[in-house]
Amino acid sequence: MKLQHLQEYEIDEATEQAIAGLLGDCFPEYPNGRIYYKQLPDFRFLCWEDGALIAHMAVEHRMIGNDGQPCRIFGVVDLCVAEAFQHRRLASRLLSELTILGLRHRVDFLLLMAKDHSLYLSNGFRLATNTCQWLMISEHQTLGIAHRRVKSSLMVKPLSKKEWRPGLVDFLGHVF
Ligand SMILES: CC(C)(COP(=O)(O)OP(=O)(O)OC[C@H]1O[C@@H](n2cnc3c(N)ncnc32)[C@H](O)[C@@H]1OP(=O)(O)O)[C@@H](O)C(=O)NCCC(=O)NCCS
Repeated sequence: MKLQHLQEYEIDEATEQAIAGLLGDCFPEYPNGRIYYKQLPDFRFLCWEDGALIAHMAVEHRMIGNDGQPCRIFGVVDLCVAEAFQHRRLASRLLSELTILGLRHRVDFLLLMAKDHSLYLSNGFRLATNTCQWLMISEHQTLGIAHRRVKSSLMVKPLSKKEWRPGLVDFLGHVF
């Protein structure tokens, strides 16, 4: 298996097609042929086996506000593993690679949204109950600002000495 770390601007058409194929297989509601929901991420981790893409994780590198304190975060987006390769710790490996990268580069927290928490709880994330504020985007149009508690979804993994606070999380952009 080959693990690749690609900046978003480096993605060529063949790789884009492979990512779109895997995203479509893993998330049936994903916009057909596209490799992002709302906006392009900053970079991706890709796992290849015999020329086929078998696992994917996109990452947003951004500042957010947490109860007034500015925090550097990596946001985990569209983590998925081809069905035939699931339950082999591939997703855990990608989360662990991102943790190492974040620790090396002064990232305060990993953040993600998930309905099923099991994978993330076993990889050092915990559920957060903060009220959140974010930019609502739909099909390349800005709709406004949302401000609400996201029930049982927001998960956080601390990487620095900064403490996660219970106040408002301002995403300073769209939610991933
Ligand atoms: C979720 C997913 C990425 C896990 O990949 P994986 O390589 O099998 O994960 P790991 O082997 O590292 O860990 C497996 C554990 O993750 C948990 N898990 C399984 N499906 C999950 C899901 N949809 N969401 C969260 N956790 C999940 C289980 O605890 C599982 O343990 P098990 O193998 O004992 O059953 C993969 O099942 C997948 O691509 N699902 C479809 C897309 C998806 O739902 N992505 C998550 C978006 S938040």
